[in-house]
Amino acid sequence: MSDTVLATRGLHMAFGGLMVFDHLDFSLKQGERHAIIGPNGAGKTTFVSLITGLLRPVSGDVLLDGRVITRDPPQARVKAGIVRTFQINSLFKALNPLESVVLALCERDGRARPALRAVARESALIGEARGLLEQFGLGADALTPTQTLAYGRQRLLEIALAMALKPRVLLLDEPAAGLSTRQGHEVFEQLLRLSAGVTILFIEHDMGLVFRYADQVSVFAGGAIIVQDTPDNVRVNPRVREVYLGA
Ligand SMILES: Nc1ncnc2c1ncn2[C@@H]1O[C@H](COP(=O)(O)OP(=O)(O)O)[C@@H](O)[C@H]1O
Ligand SMILES: [Mg+2]
Repeated sequence: MSDTVLATRGLHMAFGGLMVFDHLDFSLKQGERHAIIGPNGAGKTTFVSLITGLLRPVSGDVLLDGRVITRDPPQARVKAGIVRTFQINSLFKALNPLESVVLALCERDGRARPALRAVARESALIGEARGLLEQFGLGADALTPTQTLAYGRQRLLEIALAMALKPRVLLLDEPAAGLSTRQGHEVFEQLLRLSAGVTILFIEHDMGLVFRYADQVSVFAGGAIIVQDTPDNVRVNPRVREVYLGA
């Protein structure tokens, strides 16, 4: 019928008395690279959390392939292919990239996390994990404690961990935050090179990255999506310039 993978229908979200969205309709097409932009506090991160199931809306629905998943727990959504990048937390920081990717692969296969000692014997998974790290240019860092890696490498590892879960829809909340412009481009180049066929929704503040790597852009402001269009059209849209680009 349509090539829509993920959609929201009449999504209403509030935190107590604070209304974030009134009635949000959104759809993401198969294979699209879709950027979300908008001022701080516009609800971008909240929107991603509603899609992954970290938050539940007050009303309205989230749909995957036309099926309502609004009440599905986050783990079920990961299994169905909706994956957000891991923020590298203290656990992952204490491991090295190889150990982290092996754990993510165990997660994907629905296996209990082996004790770290047992990981050493998981040779098939280790081979796959090494392959994935190589693809992301992290092969030489496989055994380096994650907390000692340069920040840009940690961001790449976050994406590699998400890709280990074989996502259909990958959600990224400011993947280039804290990086230089050049490093931001490197992260996006790697991501797009290695995610053929994966539908991508990313929140990004750097307009250079948005205009270069997105093929659709949604502009969130004032509890609504005020514009959804191609990067070229968004760039010259007077409303967007007024509320967001500050021109
Ligand atoms: N867990 C929460 N509890 C209460 N208010 C929240 C919570 N998360 C976000 N908010 C509020 O909801 C609004 C949208 O936040 P957020 O989605 O983080 O915006 P963005 O990512 O666009 O900057 C903001 O006003 C924020 O303060
Ligand atoms: Mg945010």
